[in-house]
Amino acid sequence: MAVGFYNFKELHNEQLQKEVMERFEEIVKNNAFVEGKYNTSFERDFAKMVGAKRCLLTANGTDALEIGLQAFDVGPGDKVAIAAISFFATAECVVNRGATPVFVDVDEQTGLMDPESLKRVLSNHKVKAVIPVHIYGLPAPIEEIEKICQSRGIGIVEDGAQSHGGKYANGNPIGSSNNLVTYSFYPTKNLGAFGDAGAITAPTQEMTDKIQSIRNHGRSPEGHKLYGRNSRCDHMQAAVLDLKLQSFPAQNENRKAIAKKYFEALKDTPLELVPEKYLDLSSWHLFPVRLKTKEEKYALKEHLDKNKIGSALFYEKAMPEEKPCQNLEGEKEKALTFAAQTLCLPMNPFVTDDEIAEVVKAVKSFFS
Ligand SMILES: Cc1ncc(COP(=O)(O)O)c(C=O)c1O
Repeated sequence: MAVGFYNFKELHNEQLQKEVMERFEEIVKNNAFVEGKYNTSFERDFAKMVGAKRCLLTANGTDALEIGLQAFDVGPGDKVAIAAISFFATAECVVNRGATPVFVDVDEQTGLMDPESLKRVLSNHKVKAVIPVHIYGLPAPIEEIEKICQSRGIGIVEDGAQSHGGKYANGNPIGSSNNLVTYSFYPTKNLGAFGDAGAITAPTQEMTDKIQSIRNHGRSPEGHKLYGRNSRCDHMQAAVLDLKLQSFPAQNENRKAIAKKYFEALKDTPLELVPEKYLDLSSWHLFPVRLKTKEEKYALKEHLDKNKIGSALFYEKAMPEEKPCQNLEGEKEKALTFAAQTLCLPMNPFVTDDEIAEVVKAVKSFFS
């Protein structure tokens, strides 16, 4: 039996397609293409779900990161400390602000920013903002990072592109901190649009007003106060997100239940899993496992491919290894090992017990 990595057929089933088309028809009839009623209702309900004061939709998750940095006045000449394991956008947003990324090494079991590495990096670099990443949906150690940053007056932009519905170590939803948190609604994310979309949540009215202005050409009630950009979210994408938000909590619960079953079935294999304490915290966007070596990882990938089991290498390289990042400073040693050893198994809300059994059978036959 083949096991897909994603399952769009179930996710975007006929009923959902019908409801989406009804909303699209309504939008076309009303010529309400940008920032309509679905933007308003989604921003309200998503903020409520993640325990944030305000949510502002953006055109995509990369813009949300860049806008977050601009909200902290990051610009040319500034440095921003970023986790060394992430999608390339986490470095790109810094460079696109005219600033320079400095890498912070990660925890070897999770790929999450290591607070001890952050302390060392901050002792060598004057940094204006920090971007921890909730990679795979696992929560970064925000309380420790906040303690380090607060006394130094450093802004925190949490990259939550993969973490909708996840929780911090204290059990509160990711999004409810006193930091800016960014999200991507790229179609493969836990909550995905029918195209590109993103969002940023903000803890204060002052930050909300600034972000609102940046995403819409620097406009404010008194006129243009700063140079912003166009990062409005289309009404059609907001209509899809608003609709999909209804089934989202149940789908995230499914992901958690699937992760629990993987844990049970894989804990006695040579695969290294993330620590069990993350079972209830992660949004389980992805299910990462670690192999002993890079060679073993590629061999398992080949074995799974042969057995028609979807798997993916997120991320084949740590960001400091990517060509444009190779001359950047900071710490990266554990990130290089982590990227070399990590592979992701099928994870979506619809993985069945039979499919889990098929994945586990293939993993066990690889090691036997
Ligand atoms: C960790 C992380 N940051 C940022 C982004 C960028 O989001 P988008 O593709 O919506 O611009 C992504 C999306 O893949 C991501 O996974």
